[in-house]
Amino acid sequence: MISVTDNGNGIPQAVLDKIFQPFFTTKPSGQGTGLGLSMSYEIVTKAHNGELKVENTEGEGATFKIILPI
Ligand SMILES: Nc1ncnc2c1ncn2[C@@H]1O[C@H](COP(=O)(O)OP(=O)(O)OP(=O)(O)O)[C@@H](O)[C@H]1O
Ligand SMILES: [Mg+2]
Repeated sequence: MISVTDNGNGIPQAVLDKIFQPFFTTKPSGQGTGLGLSMSYEIVTKAHNGELKVENTEGEGATFKIILPI
């Protein structure tokens, strides 16, 4: 398991439901593809049969966990 935690603003609940959808981004027009997390999700779950989970504390940051089978 690989866990990455940041100390950003966290992810608002309304946004959290959509972060793994292709082309979903809250970045300004022209700055984000919205593909980072959807591609990561596909690679981890489909190519490696793993799990990609997010744990979130609004206002305090987010943790992403990549869980790979042995
Ligand atoms: N660590 C994080 N903290 C807060 N919000 C996040 C975090 N990671 C992702 N998000 C939210 O999820 C959205 C989708 O993320 P994703 O990586 O798929 O696309 P993006 O970062 O917007 O674009 P790109 O990957 O092309 O730079 C982001 O626009 C942002 O709203
Ligand atoms: Mg991204």
